[in-house]
Amino acid sequence: MTTPVLSVENLGISSPHTSLVRNVSFTIRPGERVGLIGESGSGKSLTAMSIFGLLHEGLTATGSVTLAGVEQNIFAADEKTIAGLRGQKMAMVFQEPMTALNPTMRIGAQVAEAMTVHGASRSEANRRALELLETVDLPEPRRISRSYPHQLSGGQRQRVALAIAIANSPSLLICDEPTTALDVTVQARMLALIEEAVEATDSALLFITHDLAVVATICEYIVVMYGGELLETGKSTEIFENPRHPYTRALLAASALTPDEVTGKLPTIPDDLFSYRDFKASCPRCAGARHDTDEGTWIETETGGYACWHEEVLV
Ligand SMILES: Nc1ncnc2c1ncn2[C@@H]1O[C@H](COP(=O)(O)OP(=O)(O)OP(=O)(O)O)[C@@H](O)[C@H]1O
Ligand SMILES: [Mg+2]
Repeated sequence: MTTPVLSVENLGISSPHTSLVRNVSFTIRPGERVGLIGESGSGKSLTAMSIFGLLHEGLTATGSVTLAGVEQNIFAADEKTIAGLRGQKMAMVFQEPMTALNPTMRIGAQVAEAMTVHGASRSEANRRALELLETVDLPEPRRISRSYPHQLSGGQRQRVALAIAIANSPSLLICDEPTTALDVTVQARMLALIEEAVEATDSALLFITHDLAVVATICEYIVVMYGGELLETGKSTEIFENPRHPYTRALLAASALTPDEVTGKLPTIPDDLFSYRDFKASCPRCAGARHDTDEGTWIETETGGYACWHEEVLV
């Protein structure tokens, strides 16, 4: 068996008073494309940010995240070590392209900097920057490279973010809802570019999306999260054909969970997500039903936890 590019073991994330993610374990092998799905608030972005070493202040992560060729658990590494991995071993494309761009710096300089920080010479980086802008299908790369982010469209900015992400051919590319903020007309092209980019750079892909049609076309494997836990993992074909959990079935019944028109995100099923421990007495999602006397509304997660599923609410 090949060594995984990414191993996430027993990941837990908590804020000072709440457990937000629990018991999440999965691996990604070289070149694999894995879709991470789940309703809004299920912990997808937190999982991605912890892998990328960018959890918000005040949140703590337990468990381990290891990358191929790096002995150390990311959670035990210092910021300098993680910064060395970011961009080189792993790269990320965020939902909002401005997250990755510096508004005061010309595009070409930003793409080049992604390579000079990892040791490339300035002249080589400038040359490669133009090539990369061309690779992500930006017209007139020379003109674009002299522009500032605000002079580009959202779709163009996201292409620049992708160019920066693939600049050092990372072994893992993480995309967190990379097309949600884009105009529908340019979403498909962006997805095609991501696919082309991971093929050209031989990167593995962790793709977070609410769009199950996208997962079906791009990803060979699926990880389903629910309430901060991993509910189901498997090959996309198998999960689409034969989802084991009622929750996954509901998620796949796209008509039941229509993305919000403004944010493009899947809505939560009524009420906030909560730890299964909190609703021993009564479940807010099921309007006060007691689960211990209400068989059939529990679903066991892959790691032995429990989550609420209520047919009438979900399907
Ligand atoms: N900095 C934070 N402090 C406290 N709680 C947080 C923080 N960031 C996220 N959370 C909470 O953790 C849970 C998971 O958030 P996360 O952003 O990972 O969800 P998500 O699955 O990415 O959802 P979406 O589809 O809306 O992007 C949510 O309930 C959220 O409110
Ligand atoms: Mg998110």
